[in-house]
Amino acid sequence: MEANAPIISRSPEATRRLASRLVTHLLPGAIVALIGELGTGKTRFVEGAPRELGYAGRVRSPSYTLLNIYRARLPIYHFDLYRWEAAGADEELEEWEEIMDGDGVSFIEWAERLADRLPPRAVSVYLEHAGETERRIRVAWPGERADVVRRLLMEDVP
Ligand SMILES: Nc1ncnc2c1ncn2[C@@H]1O[C@H](COP(=O)(O)OP(=O)(O)O)[C@@H](O)[C@H]1O
Ligand SMILES: [Mg+2]
Repeated sequence: MEANAPIISRSPEATRRLASRLVTHLLPGAIVALIGELGTGKTRFVEGAPRELGYAGRVRSPSYTLLNIYRARLPIYHFDLYRWEAAGADEELEEWEEIMDGDGVSFIEWAERLADRLPPRAVSVYLEHAGETERRIRVAWPGERADVVRRLLMEDVP
C-alpha cells in the first residue's frame, strides 16, 4: 500500500469517518490543517471528530466567528480562516496559538492562510473534488509515518 496514495471518500459519511478515526489517535495540542476548495468536505470531515468524542450538537463552519468550540470528551477547536484578515492580526494569532497549545484538538479550515505561522506539528489533510460525491483525500503527517496513518485511517473501510 503506497504511503501517500490518496484515500477516495464516496460519501459525506465516509469523510466524517476518517476524522472519527484520526481523532482517536490525537492527543491534546494536536492540530489538523484542512486544505481544499469550497465544497470539498472540510466541514464534513471536522464533524466526525466531536461526534466520535461524544458531542451531539451542531458542527458548522465558523466562517464569520472564525472559531467554534465543541465540548466533547476533549474540547474540539474548529477554526475557519476563509474570511480572516491576516494583516495586523498578530494579537489574535497569539490567542489562537495559546488555544492550539492547550487541552484540546484543533481543526483549521483554510489553514494555508496561516502560511508559515502554522505550527509544524500540524497534520495536513488535503481534499479535492473527484466527482459529485467523491472526494480525494490525502493525509500528511509530519515525520515519516504516512504509512501508519494511512493504515489506521483505512481499517475496516469497505
Ligand atoms: N464524499 C464526500 N465527502 C464530503 N462531502 C461530500 C462528499 N460527497 C458530497 N459531499 C457534499 O459536499 C459538501 C461539502 O461541504 P462542506 O463540508 O461544507 O465543504 P467545505 O467545508 O470544504 O466548504 C456537502 O454538501 C456534502 O454533502
Ligand atoms: Mg467549511
